[in-house]
Amino acid sequence: MRCEMNGHLLERIKKLKAERNAVILAHNYQPGEIQDLADFTGDSLGLSIKAAQTDAEVIVFCGVQFMAETAAILSPEKIVLLPDKNAGCPLADMVTAEQLRQLKQKHPDALVVCYVNSSAEVKAESDYCCTSANAVEVVESLPIDKKIIFVPDQHLGQFVIEKTGRNLVLWPGYCASHVVITEEDIKRVKAKYPDAIVMAHPECTEPVKQLSDQILSTGQMLRYVEKSTAKRFIVATETGMIYALKKQNPEAEFIAASDRAICPNMKMISLEKIVWSLEDMQYKVAIADEIRIKAKKALDRMVEVLPAK
Ligand code: 13P
Repeated sequence: MRCEMNGHLLERIKKLKAERNAVILAHNYQPGEIQDLADFTGDSLGLSIKAAQTDAEVIVFCGVQFMAETAAILSPEKIVLLPDKNAGCPLADMVTAEQLRQLKQKHPDALVVCYVNSSAEVKAESDYCCTSANAVEVVESLPIDKKIIFVPDQHLGQFVIEKTGRNLVLWPGYCASHVVITEEDIKRVKAKYPDAIVMAHPECTEPVKQLSDQILSTGQMLRYVEKSTAKRFIVATETGMIYALKKQNPEAEFIAASDRAICPNMKMISLEKIVWSLEDMQYKVAIADEIRIKAKKALDRMVEVLPAK
């Protein structure tokens, strides 16, 4: 019954997409059926680049608010739709533009690097933006004698400190779906599958990352597994990633480090909501020019600096 229903919804989406000249972008954490119907899937960096390059008139962003905002900032002439307006990012909400302004006052000589998981207003207050795929390279591209404020994810910030040797001023933000993965989870799963390679997202806590073999963005995980000869991987990130990995590598085995690592906001998007989104052209994500122009400067740098792997 559900299968028949999905078939009907997929047909409807296909038709509406053609009528609206729309493209569907989906993050690697999206439910499998949405990853399957998307024109492009990827990590935050890959999707931002696609959003900037597409010649479609409408972008349906299957992800969370800051991702749709990023697409709207990079492609202001396009209509960007987020199928559920409540699909936010609690990490992005952990620092406000006002809090960042206060921090900048305390460190007036510092440059500001914000993680893409932040609001458009925070990006407008920042000098550079980065994703987890290129945070190290973005920081390395900055003058060595410059003090750097890094917001809002403390764990990605800590990873950048370790990789670059730079002393960043961190903000105490975190992703609830990643910090739920514990050191004990990794030890337990590793004990069961000692031959498996552990891949962790940089938003994981430091003890989890220390127990991992590879620290990678979601897009980097896909590229790593594609080249690897290993057959079994422990995945320390949001569990939607397992679907993307399995689809690309059907013969390999992927084990979630924790079944609790679920982002409820990512799962708010559904086939029905994509249909409604294209029918009613909602929810439009538009950023006021004053914020957009400033935020774009930080984002342009983000899409220019390519990751080493
Ligand atoms: P990636 O850019 O690695 O896909 O991560 C996105 C994200 O929001 C992680 O929580």
